[in-house]
Amino acid sequence: MKLIIKSIAFIALLHIVSCGKKEEPAPSLSAPLALNPSGITQNSFLAKWVRVSNAESYLLDVSANRDFSSFVDGYQSLAVNGVDHEVMDLEANTAYHYRLRAKSSSAESSNSNVVSLTTLIPEGIPLKDAAKNFYIGNIVQSNRLTGKHQEILGSEFSSISAEYEMKMNIMYPNEGAYNWTAADAIVNFAHDNGLNMHGHALIWHNATPDWVENYAGTDAEFEAMIEDYIKTVVDRYKDKVSSWDVVNEAILDGSGDYRNSVFYQRMGKDYITKCFQWAREADPDVVLFYNDYSICSDATKQSAIFTMIDELQNNSVPIDGLGYQLHISYNYPSRDDIVSAVNKSVDRNLKVHFSELDIRANPNNDLSSLTQSRSLAQKDKFKELAEIYSALPDDNKYALTLWGLKDDESWLLDFHGHIDWPLLYDASFNEKDAYYGFLEGLMKN
Ligand code: XIL
Repeated sequence: MKLIIKSIAFIALLHIVSCGKKEEPAPSLSAPLALNPSGITQNSFLAKWVRVSNAESYLLDVSANRDFSSFVDGYQSLAVNGVDHEVMDLEANTAYHYRLRAKSSSAESSNSNVVSLTTLIPEGIPLKDAAKNFYIGNIVQSNRLTGKHQEILGSEFSSISAEYEMKMNIMYPNEGAYNWTAADAIVNFAHDNGLNMHGHALIWHNATPDWVENYAGTDAEFEAMIEDYIKTVVDRYKDKVSSWDVVNEAILDGSGDYRNSVFYQRMGKDYITKCFQWAREADPDVVLFYNDYSICSDATKQSAIFTMIDELQNNSVPIDGLGYQLHISYNYPSRDDIVSAVNKSVDRNLKVHFSELDIRANPNNDLSSLTQSRSLAQKDKFKELAEIYSALPDDNKYALTLWGLKDDESWLLDFHGHIDWPLLYDASFNEKDAYYGFLEGLMKN
C-alpha cells in the first residue's frame, strides 16, 4: 500500500514538474522605441530605434501609407541586426512611415510606435532640364508675358502655345483684315526668351469668326479664302513657329463622326487633307499636328481618329503628329488606356504632343479646398503622365505642354463652373505637390 501511495505521489510530482516546465512563459520582448530618423535625403534616410534587451534582431517595416496597408519594396519585416538601418531608393518629397518589432529565437514583440518623415524636395532641376529630348510647354496670353509669368516660363519651360490669341477669330476677325497684334507679341516673346513656339490652332470650329461661320460667298470662294488664310498665317510665322495644330477637334465624341462644322459643310471631309497640304506648301519644315481631346477615354472616337490618320498617311498627306489634349482627372483615364492610345501613334511613326495637359483634382465638385490626400492623388497622376511621355522613343517625342501656369488661371474654372486646382502652381505661384510629382516622373527615365 505504502508503495502504491509513494508511486502515486512520485507520478504526481513528475506531473507537476513536467507541467510546470510546459507552462513556463517564453521570455517576452518589449516593443522597441522607434526614434526620429537622421540623414534624410531626397531618396533615403537612416531609421533608428532603442535597443531592446534580449532582442537578437529587429523586423523593420517601411510604408508610404500611415496604416501600413502596403510596403516599400523590400521593407516588409526586413531583418536588421543593429539599432539603425539606411532605407534607400525612395521617391523625393514623399511621406514615409516606419515601425519595427524586436525578435529573439523564441519571441517577437508587438509593433513599436510609428515614425513619419518626408524625403527632401529635389532642388535646382528645372522641369525643362529634367525632360530628356523634348520640350516642356505652357500657354500664354499676351497680357501675361511679364513679371512672375515671364520668370517661371523662362526658368522652367522650353515651349509655349497661345491660349487663344492665335486662333482664327482673333487673328482674322474680319474678311481681308488680319489682326496680328497679340499673335506677334506672343511669337516675339517666344523668340526673345529662347522658347519653342507651337502654333495653336489654325482650324477650330469653336474659334471661327462670325463672318466665316456665315460666309456670304460660294463654296469655292470659301475654300479659296481658307487656303489664303492658312498660307498667310503659316508663312508669316515661318521662321518663328516650329509646329502648328492644323485642325483641332474635327471628330465627334461618342459617334466618331466628322463634326458638322462650317468647314465640313462647305468643303466636305477633305477639308482636313487640304488644310494640311496648304500648311505644308507654306512651310516645308513646320511640324504639322492633328489635335483632339478624349483620345484615351473614348474608344469610338479614338478609332475614328486613327482611321482618319491612316487615310491621310495612305494618301501621303503631310501630317507629322497627333496632339493629345489630355484634359483629364486625377482618377481617370487609366494609365493603361493612356499608354495604349499613345502607342497607336508610335505604331504610325507620328510625333506625340501632350498638348493641353491639366488634371482635375475636383471633377465631382466634392471639395471646397484642396485636401492633402487629393493633392497627393493628383501628384501621382501628374507623375504618371510625365513618366508615360518620357518613356516614348525619342523620335516620337515633341513636347509635353501644360494648359495653364497656375490654378486660378485655368480655363476649367469657367468651363465647369466650379472650383478646381488642375495645374502645377497654386494661385500664388508656389510649386504644388503636382509639380514635384511631374518632376519626379520626368526624372524617372
Ligand atoms: C480654351 C482656352 O483655354 C480658353 O481661354 C478659351 O476661351 C477657349 O479655349 N481645347 C482646345 C483649347 O484646343 O484651345 C481650349 O482652350 C481648351 C479646349
